[in-house]
Parts: sequence; C-alpha cells; structure tokens
Amino acid sequence: MSANLTAHVAADATRPSTGHVTLVGAGPGDAGLLTIKGLRALEAADVIVADRLGARSVLDGLAAEGVHLAAEIVDVGKLPGHHAVPQDAINALLVTLARDGKRVVRLKGGDPFIFGRGGEEVASCQEAGVAVEVVPGITSAISVPAIAGIPLTHRGLATTFTVVTGHDQIQALGGGRDHTVVLLMGVGTLANSAITLSRGERGGTCPVAIIEDGYGSGQRVTVGTLDTIALQAARRGIRSPAVVVVGDVVTLSPYAPEAITTATGAPAAIPSPEALPASADRKTTQP
Ligand SMILES: C[S@@+](CC[C@H](N)C(=O)[O-])C[C@H]1O[C@@H](n2cnc3c(N)ncnc32)[C@H](O)[C@@H]1O
Repeated sequence: MSANLTAHVAADATRPSTGHVTLVGAGPGDAGLLTIKGLRALEAADVIVADRLGARSVLDGLAAEGVHLAAEIVDVGKLPGHHAVPQDAINALLVTLARDGKRVVRLKGGDPFIFGRGGEEVASCQEAGVAVEVVPGITSAISVPAIAGIPLTHRGLATTFTVVTGHDQIQALGGGRDHTVVLLMGVGTLANSAITLSRGERGGTCPVAIIEDGYGSGQRVTVGTLDTIALQAARRGIRSPAVVVVGDVVTLSPYAPEAITTATGAPAAIPSPEALPASADRKTTQP
C-alpha cells in the first residue's frame, strides 16, 4: 500500500460524510469509449481511485489528448484479478475520502457492475452513509469482440448471449452455436472451458475467438474451434487480459480463416499461427 493510501485509510472514519463517491465505468481502455458523463465526473473529482486494467489507459489517453484532470490519482489496481490493494481496503478508502469531504471517482475498467465488484463498493458506501452514484461504462464483454468484428447477436446466427467468467461452472450452460458464450478472465481455464463446451450441443467444431488486450498496443485476435483453441493459445502464448467468444458469430470476424468461415459442421483444420491473418495484430494493420 502506498504511503498516500495509508494516510487516507488512517484518516478519521467517524466524521460525517460531506463528499461523495461516483463509480465510473472506464470502458475497455480507449479514452474515446469513456462516456461524456464519466468524463464530467473525472473533471469534477478531487480524487480518482483507479484500477489498472482499462482505467489507467483511459487516464493516459485523456492526458495525451490534452485533457487536464486536477484530481489526485490513487492507483489501487494491478493486473486483472490481482488487486494490489484488497477489496476491503478499497471500500474503506472510498468511505474515508468521502468523509474527508472529497468528490471521489472510483474509475473501474469496463462497466463497474460486470464482474467488477462495483455492487460491493456501492453497498459499502451506502452502509457508511456516503452518497454514491454509478456511471455505467462500456463493458469489455461487448466492446472487445466488436473490435474483432464480432457482434454477439446476429440475425440467423445468434439470438442470445451469456457472459460468464472462466471460473464459473459452465457445465450447466445450455444452447448450441446460436447461443454465444463470452468468457471473461478465461485464459487460465481455457482448455477446460473448451472441452466442457464442446461436449454439449455446440460440438468441437464450434468457432472460438480470443481477443487479447482489446484496444491496447498488444491487441491480437486468434480464431479457432473448441477442439483447436487450447493448442493455438499455447502456441501463441495467449495472455490475459483477453475476451473469449464462442459461437457461430465468430465466423463474421474478418480475422476468421476460411477453414472456419466455410466449415458447416465439418472439423476445421488447426490454423497455424503463420496462417492467421497479419491483421490479427494491432501493430500491423487493423481491419
Ligand atoms: C475483472 S473482469 C472486469 C470486467 C469489466 N468490469 C468489464 O465490464 O469489462 C476483467 C476481465 O475483463 C476482460 N477485459 C477487460 N478489459 C479488456 C481488454 N481491454 N481486452 C481484453 N479483455 C479485457 C478480461 O477477460 C479480463 O480478465
């Protein structure tokens, strides 16, 4: 915990609240995908308590565009799922800062209420009598597939979608390829998830896309099938953060190799990393 943060937490927590907390969804990391309401809250803030994933790159992006934020920035995030500061300490910090009379923005990646523990932070503020509001953000579950040209629903291909984490029990997840599955935090458990989903109605030839570091400098798209994706991921050294999309909508992606877009039930060949389109890497050409 930084010295700054320690000082904040140690402040007198018994004083009445005069400040307030606004949870702001930062979106997937591109400053252009922050909402105007979120930007206004950042501009009005005294303190911004920021996560690393999504939030920091949005702050950097705003600075690069010449947006000057007067607020003190407290960094409480590390990598996805590994908070540098425990959740209880973040909750306590938000309450303490608000009780010090500060206008606090809690800047969180994506949307605060999608696997973001935003509900816990809201509850903690409410229990402490601190005024709190939420400005939704664009979740990575939708926006990261979009940058790879994948809509989660599409007439004739998919009428529903489910967002789960790689840690969830996905055995019970019904439906076929027309039911899109989006996995967040799914890299570590990818092989297991792929086997589980392939045993159901989707089958092993169901298309899968993995989008790493969406909107970031390391953006990369890998497309395969439930049978092939774990091997592809291992070969390419796929890393978190990444969004995994499972279902026929993946065939709409310009990154999908022909073997997958034309496969109609027949097992697709494993595309070698070399066979994947060069445009799969942001560092080269985008679609
Ligand atoms: C703890 S969850 C938070 C989700 C966030 N609240 C949201 O609405 O996007 C973190 C996971 O979101 C996904 N994620 C968030 N931003 C991403 C990005 N820019 N590129 C790829 N995946 C991302 C990854 O699956 C990551 O492991």
